[in-house]
Amino acid sequence: MPDMRIKVPGTPETQYEIVIGSDILPSAWAQIKAAHTQYNRFVVTDEHVIAAGHLDALLGGRPAPYFAIKPAGEVSKTIDTAVAIVEAMEKAYLGRDTVVIALGGGTVGDIAGFAAAIFKRGVPVVQIPTTTLAQADSAIGGKTGVDSSVSKNAFGAFWHPAAVYIDVAVVKTLDDRQYRSGLVESVKHGLIADAGYFEFIEGHLDEILARDPDTLEMLARYNCRIKGSVVEEDPFEKNKRRILNYGHTVGHAVEAASDYEMLHGEAVAVGIIAAGLIEIELSLSKPSQLDRIRAIFERLGVPVRVPASMVQEKLIDLMRHDKKAVDQWPRFVLLDRIGQVRCEDGQYAVQVSREVVVNVLKKLR
Ligand SMILES: NC(=O)c1ccc[n+]([C@@H]2O[C@H](COP(=O)([O-])OP(=O)(O)OC[C@H]3O[C@@H](n4cnc5c(N)ncnc54)[C@H](O)[C@@H]3O)[C@@H](O)[C@H]2O)c1
Ligand SMILES: [Zn+2]
Repeated sequence: MPDMRIKVPGTPETQYEIVIGSDILPSAWAQIKAAHTQYNRFVVTDEHVIAAGHLDALLGGRPAPYFAIKPAGEVSKTIDTAVAIVEAMEKAYLGRDTVVIALGGGTVGDIAGFAAAIFKRGVPVVQIPTTTLAQADSAIGGKTGVDSSVSKNAFGAFWHPAAVYIDVAVVKTLDDRQYRSGLVESVKHGLIADAGYFEFIEGHLDEILARDPDTLEMLARYNCRIKGSVVEEDPFEKNKRRILNYGHTVGHAVEAASDYEMLHGEAVAVGIIAAGLIEIELSLSKPSQLDRIRAIFERLGVPVRVPASMVQEKLIDLMRHDKKAVDQWPRFVLLDRIGQVRCEDGQYAVQVSREVVVNVLKKLR
């Protein structure tokens, strides 16, 4: 039984199902087969996911063609890897009657989704996210792509999945830093859309850090409901979807300035603190609200400041390249309060003066 359905107007699939549970990997294969009876299956995964035993759990001894991304991680998120996947599918005599199964974190999901989008003008992709980041965020929403030598996600397509299977037990094998970093996107969802969810996280940090499956299922349901409803309203990011970018204006700049030494969620944590400081400067919120957010991040062990070595001018320059920038000056998603994003003249990314941004960057040290 699907736990949720996401409707995506303007796409051939029109809607897709999300299945959430613990230890559902072994049954997912049969479900995918039943949903795509006339289809062949091709799995894209990576070396760490295989080493952790998740490919074996999915296949359950059945022979199936697969592509293992190596080395795992962002370095392989290139057009060359996408080409290698497409060619591996051709060599396996696969045609348009193939469903691509992305088993892995956001890197695998983005590359496999993109390969599925371009293989013979597009075949369905099923997302099986295996990191906290991918389960909360990247597997839902249909954004796929690979990096160029100049920027992240330079090649890309909106390619909404045919289905998403979230097995919360698979994150047990994730290393601690990755696990904690990915949780920042869950906190972000509470902040932008649901004060009750934020309070749930605040009250269940012990269970979350212990990777308790029941608690993680609750998180998955909240995340899918929140991200799903935003995606349904704005599947191609015309306006509303920008709220998912909360904390990302400064976050992306910090991530790039660290030469990607900081993980995405870690940089977004700093970016969320920056957004909170802007809200205080603009008298939109009180310091006590930011203290609550900071306390969660400190428990998660993610950074809440920029390293002293990070030059302010560099961060500002990076922010001027942000996709929300207008006239080369970034716009910011801000909160009216926890659970409610600010909207000015119908726009969710709002103008903030240079003076305020500079002040906030100083306070972030
Ligand atoms: N499409 C979107 O909407 C979207 C949203 C956010 C981020 N992203 C993208 O996601 C990527 C980051 O994703 P990520 O943080 O999941 O990183 P990742 O996919 O690189 O995974 C992190 C590491 O964990 C390993 N791993 C994955 N699952 C594991 C498991 N269960 N057990 C043990 N090891 C495991 C991976 O092999 C890798 O080494 C970035 O490229 C980012 O641009 C996309
Ligand atoms: Zn993010």
